[in-house]
Amino acid sequence: MAISPSHYQFTSIILGDSMKSNNKVAIITGASKGIGRAISHKLAALNMNLMLVSRDLSLLEKVKEEISGLGTGEIHILSIDLTKETEIRTLVDKTLAQYGHIDILVNNAGVGKFKRIDEFTIDDYNFIFDLNVKGLFLLTKYIVPHLIAQQSGHIINVSSIAGKNGFKSGSLYSASKHAVQGFTWSLREDIKEFGIKVTAVCPGSVVTGFGGKEVDYVEWSLEPEDIAHAVGFLVTESDSVNTAEIIIKPRYNPRSINWEERV
Ligand SMILES: NC(=O)c1ccc[n+]([C@@H]2O[C@H](COP(=O)([O-])OP(=O)(O)OC[C@H]3O[C@@H](n4cnc5c(N)ncnc54)[C@H](OP(=O)(O)O)[C@@H]3O)[C@@H](O)[C@H]2O)c1
Repeated sequence: MAISPSHYQFTSIILGDSMKSNNKVAIITGASKGIGRAISHKLAALNMNLMLVSRDLSLLEKVKEEISGLGTGEIHILSIDLTKETEIRTLVDKTLAQYGHIDILVNNAGVGKFKRIDEFTIDDYNFIFDLNVKGLFLLTKYIVPHLIAQQSGHIINVSSIAGKNGFKSGSLYSASKHAVQGFTWSLREDIKEFGIKVTAVCPGSVVTGFGGKEVDYVEWSLEPEDIAHAVGFLVTESDSVNTAEIIIKPRYNPRSINWEERV
């Protein structure tokens, strides 16, 4: 039977977004705070079964407590260092053992350091690239075969406006997010034939502890919930849609940030 757009609208009204996402299994990296924590709230409310990942187990336990009861899905947490290949494999194995399959991967965990280029060290480079690029690549690589086998799935990479532009003191972070952008767009081409969606989400500045400092510039920044809202939108889109990228900017013009002060 051919399915018309009105059929989708009808189905959406009857089922609602939370019904459409029922029983789906999502891994969210960097779920202990900031944007990942907000995404965890959003997907829990959409009745998804979650595997929440970061290094800090006590923060993950707190997030689990916050979101328990928001929806009907199960919530599991795992302390994993995503810069370590063996731990990434453990994450995939444990998620499959727990749930039997994976539908959604939100590659959100990321770090940044901000300095002039001559002040950066090779350790800074490794700190940023080991998580933002290598970790994201390895987790994706180990999950994709399972998505191909089931002929469905959605990989959402939390990239950044820094993946589209450069900015003062941001050379290494911006380079890592440009890598995420190139990875995301190429991955789309690799796996779209298997019915797997791939999306980059590119936020501007979001009020989190990112970069090491709690900051208060709420009047022009995005909130973590703004990014979670976009992810909620993506995971409830119709099966016929494969959104490539969402760029999220604050409504008001930011003052220039001194990123070096945030390190
Ligand atoms: N905040 C912004 O202005 C902004 C703007 C655009 C894009 N982004 C991107 O959004 C994503 C989330 O950033 P955020 O602002 O929410 O930052 P955040 O509050 O600092 O959160 C970062 C998350 O990554 C996890 N993480 C860090 N290193 C890890 C590792 N080695 N293994 C596993 N997890 C690790 C942290 O958990 P643990 O410490 O518990 O491991 C934490 O949950 C990042 O990819 C960032 O680049 C942020």
